[in-house]
Amino acid sequence: MTSFFQSSSSSSSTMDIVKDSDNLSDNEPWIEKYRPKLLGDIVGNEDAVSRLSAIAQTGNLPNIILAGPPGIGKTTSILCLARQMLDSSYSNAVMELNASDARGIDVVRNKIKMFAQKKVTLPPGKHKIIILDEADSMTAAAQQALRRTMEIYSSTTRFALACNNSTKIIEPIQSRCAVLRYTKLKDEEVLSRLQQVCALENVTYDTSGLEAIIFTAEGDMRNALNSLQSTVSGFGIVNADNVYKVCDTPHPSEIKRAIQFTAEGKTYDAQKIIMHLHGLGYAATDIIQTLFRVTRSCDLPEPQKLEFIREIGFTHMRIAEGLNTQLQLMGCIARMAAMKHQSMPR
Ligand SMILES: Nc1ncnc2c1ncn2[C@@H]1O[C@H](COP(=O)(O)OP(=O)(O)OP(=O)(O)O)[C@@H](O)[C@H]1O
Ligand SMILES: [Mg+2]
Repeated sequence: MTSFFQSSSSSSSTMDIVKDSDNLSDNEPWIEKYRPKLLGDIVGNEDAVSRLSAIAQTGNLPNIILAGPPGIGKTTSILCLARQMLDSSYSNAVMELNASDARGIDVVRNKIKMFAQKKVTLPPGKHKIIILDEADSMTAAAQQALRRTMEIYSSTTRFALACNNSTKIIEPIQSRCAVLRYTKLKDEEVLSRLQQVCALENVTYDTSGLEAIIFTAEGDMRNALNSLQSTVSGFGIVNADNVYKVCDTPHPSEIKRAIQFTAEGKTYDAQKIIMHLHGLGYAATDIIQTLFRVTRSCDLPEPQKLEFIREIGFTHMRIAEGLNTQLQLMGCIARMAAMKHQSMPR
């Protein structure tokens, strides 16, 4: 892969990112253009990343599983680690298989085994690496077939697995691996990365625009970079309105108004806003999720907020079960607004 980052400390100044403009086409997705090349460039999850850096230095890679939600740097970490450990032998000594490759039992029996048996001359203490990305989509049978292979060839070959859901990795494989858990990135971490990319791409933005991207991304860096790029290519300027047009999320300020009306017991006004959003084509799930996230951070008395969240939770469950009609949303608003009337002295 083309290099986009120079070696750097973990500081997050703009200088950390160096654009290799000779090798880039203008329309390359920013998620690839700004994919970190060294472990030191990866933002967040310091504990896991520093463990990987230590492994890269000592060269003794155990079998590892990286588990966590999407878009937070698992694949990137493994690629950086492999590159840092194997350097010039990378192309010979690394095999990467992801969900787009066949990874059934036959592939484990043939391709993976053959690679593990292959002789590659490496410096002492270094091993070949087999990367199994999105390993949770491998069938249990294929994972079973991997058990013995992992052990037999452990003197020459190590495995690095990445997955979203570690419970889909069978127990015996988990017990053979060190599990590193990745968590969603913090808002500040996403923000600093967005600011760096904006500076390099000369993006015109305002604070509300970046806040909107962070709100919709929910700690997913891939999502954040994609939203940024889509907003820039669609509208040029990154501000909250443009971001919400691109991100397919109801505008939180609308939702906030609806919550305020609900808190005041004004059912009709609140329902009008929600019906308008529904009419614009937003799915009931999107509306209820935004409703939850805005309520969580909104300025309401604690007991009222808890009751609201409880009601939203039940409605979310019904919607998730398939009852995604407007009626469920209206019912939710009505029940929340009714609380105001119940608490009023008669
Ligand atoms: N921690 C991070 N620091 C910097 N960039 C990141 C980070 N996490 C993700 N990115 C950006 O998002 C892109 C996707 O990241 P990556 O492929 O590592 O996600 P992932 O965790 O493997 O997700 P998935 O579970 O969907 O495979 C990267 O190319 C990079 O541009
Ligand atoms: Mg990945």
